Amino acid sequence: MEQEDKKRLSAEKAYEIIKTGLHKDSVIGIGTGSTTNYFIEILNNKKLDIKGAICSSEASKKNLTDSGIDILELNEVHQIDYYIDGADEFNSRKELIKGGGGALTREKILANSSKKFICIVDDTKYSEVLGSFPLPIEVIEFARSAISREILKMGGRPVLRNNFVTDNGNQIIDVHHLDIKVPYEMEQLINNIPGVVENGIFALRTADIILKATDQSVEEISI
Ligand code: 5RP
Repeated sequence: MEQEDKKRLSAEKAYEIIKTGLHKDSVIGIGTGSTTNYFIEILNNKKLDIKGAICSSEASKKNLTDSGIDILELNEVHQIDYYIDGADEFNSRKELIKGGGGALTREKILANSSKKFICIVDDTKYSEVLGSFPLPIEVIEFARSAISREILKMGGRPVLRNNFVTDNGNQIIDVHHLDIKVPYEMEQLINNIPGVVENGIFALRTADIILKATDQSVEEISI
């Protein structure tokens, strides 16, 4: 099966799971990326009757406009019922690397504000030891070189993502070859460097459910 077909299946499964738990006061969070775009496509077709959705990026907001769903800001709501988003890498503990699309900061905020974070992926994204995918770090431009020096000391190879500015007006450094043995420790260590806005390790707040599409089915990892 093509990877794109798997992404679509995973998004469909997420929709099946959430639709029974939604009501007219529900708020959902929507991430960013090609897998999430399949989920958005479903929302555009199904016309869910909910209070609204909060998106992790301007790109996802634009894609959602046919859904009839009100786009809300996080500051207007108390809680998000479900947050649906993809990932660049996941392991069996439901820890993730995210940020390939550069929206990691808002994604982590939404994941953290949600009752249930459902991560939609295909089996090519599995890696028991995170870090084969270069770790994205959102940085304040002023601190970019200083942060890169700290990352070099930690054994990583920082590469500036060229011609890219996040929705928050910052830059992204993609870090290659970082040894992420204990993801939640590395997550905190990097975030403690002054000038780092956020990094793409999701280990302190993991996904609650991973929907992993394979050639045969969509498997649910939830324990
Ligand atoms: C965006 C992300 C995406 O979820 C991640 O990059 C996966 O994207 P795709 O579904 O296109 O493979 O973290 O910041």
